[in-house]
Amino acid sequence: MTLKRKIMWTTISVVVLLCLYVCYVGKPVDVGTDTEVDGINSEVEQILYYAGLAPSSHNAQMWEVKVYPAEGKLVISPDNTRLLTAVDQDNRETYISMGAYARSCMLAFEAYGYNASLHISDNGQSITIIYANSGMSRDEGLLTLMRRRHTDKRDYTKASIPEFFQDGLKGIRGAVFVPDTTEVFTLVKDQTLAAAAEQRDNQDIRDELADWLRFSNGEVEKKKDGLTAEQNGITGLGKAIYYTFGSHWFAKGDTFAQTGYEMAQRQAENCAGYILITANDTNVGYIEAGMHLTEAWLYAVRNDIEVQPMSFAMESKARRFAIQNTMKLPYTPQMVLRVGYVDGAYGANALIRRDLRDYIQVQ
Ligand SMILES: Cc1cc2nc3c(=O)[nH]c(=O)nc-3n(C[C@H](O)[C@H](O)[C@H](O)COP(=O)(O)O)c2cc1C
Repeated sequence: MTLKRKIMWTTISVVVLLCLYVCYVGKPVDVGTDTEVDGINSEVEQILYYAGLAPSSHNAQMWEVKVYPAEGKLVISPDNTRLLTAVDQDNRETYISMGAYARSCMLAFEAYGYNASLHISDNGQSITIIYANSGMSRDEGLLTLMRRRHTDKRDYTKASIPEFFQDGLKGIRGAVFVPDTTEVFTLVKDQTLAAAAEQRDNQDIRDELADWLRFSNGEVEKKKDGLTAEQNGITGLGKAIYYTFGSHWFAKGDTFAQTGYEMAQRQAENCAGYILITANDTNVGYIEAGMHLTEAWLYAVRNDIEVQPMSFAMESKARRFAIQNTMKLPYTPQMVLRVGYVDGAYGANALIRRDLRDYIQVQ
C-alpha cells in the first residue's frame, strides 16, 4: 500500500471511530425506572410512577413514601439523606418538592379514577394521602400531560404569552404572571442575577451542585437522579463533548461556575416573562407552593409553553421579601418560572427517576 493510501485509510478509520464514539456517548439515556414494589398492586405502582415524575430541586427527589395498602393511605416525608444543605439551608426547596410530589400523586390517583384527599401535618413534616378506587375511567390526557412536563433550558423566542393564558393563570392559586415588558420583570431579573453571582462565588454551593451533576450515561443509569446533559439542554455532539471533558472536579472550578452564570444571564433575559408562585413563608406554605407549582406548570404544558424554574433569588429570604414588598404581594414569592416558546418541537422529559422501591416502603 502506498503512503498516500495508508494516510487515507487511517484518516477514514479515525473519523469512523470518532463518529461511533460520539453516537455512543451522545445517545439519549434511558434509565428505565423500575416500578415494582412488593406489596402494592400494579395499578398503584403505575400511579406512584407518575407521582415520581414531579419536579425537584437538582432532581434530588428528596421524598420518602410509606404506603399502607390495607388502609388506602400513604405518607410522604422528607428524605434527610438527600437534602441540599448548602443552597437550601432551611429545606424550603425540599418542602416545595414534596408539595409538587404530593400534588402529582393526587393528580395521578385522579387520572386512574380514584378519589383522593390530602392532609399536611402542622409542621409540614408529613403529607398524608387517603385514596380509594371510585371505578371511574382513566384520564389518559392528564397522564400524557404529566409525562410531557419538563424543565426546558433552551433559548426562548420573542413571542409573547397570549392574554387567554394570562387570564387562565389567575385561576391558579398563588400564581402571578410578570410579562417581560414590565418594570417588575427587571426587578425579578436583577434579583435573580445578583443572587446567581453570589452563588457563582460560593464554593459550598458550587461543590453541592457539582455532586448532583452527571457526567456519563453510566453514572445516570446507576444513580437515576441529578442533572444530566439532556436536562441541561445538551444533546448529541454537545453531550459527547460535555461528558468527555466534564467531571465533578471540573464542575467545582471557576471556569464552570462562570459559564453557568453566563448561561443564567442569557436565560433570565431571554424569555416572554416569569410566573411567580407565591405562598406563606412557612414549611406548610412551601408545600402549598409546590402544589400550586404543579398546577401552573401543567397549565403551561397544556398550552405548549416551556418552563424553567430559576431559583437563585428565591434561595435568599431577603430577596424573596424584597420582591414581595416592591410588588405589594399578599404572599411571598417561592418560585420564579421563566416561561416562553422555543423554535422547533416542544421539549420532552428525560424521565430520570429512581426505582420506586428506593424510596417507597410498604407497611
Ligand atoms: C424547588 C425547585 C427549584 C428548582 N430550581 C431550578 C433552577 O434554579 N434552575 C433550573 O434550571 N431548574 C430548577 N428546577 C427544576 C429541576 O431541576 C427539575 O425539576 C428536575 O431536574 C427534574 O427535571 P424535570 O423538571 O425535567 O422533570 C427546580 C425545581 C424545583 C422543584
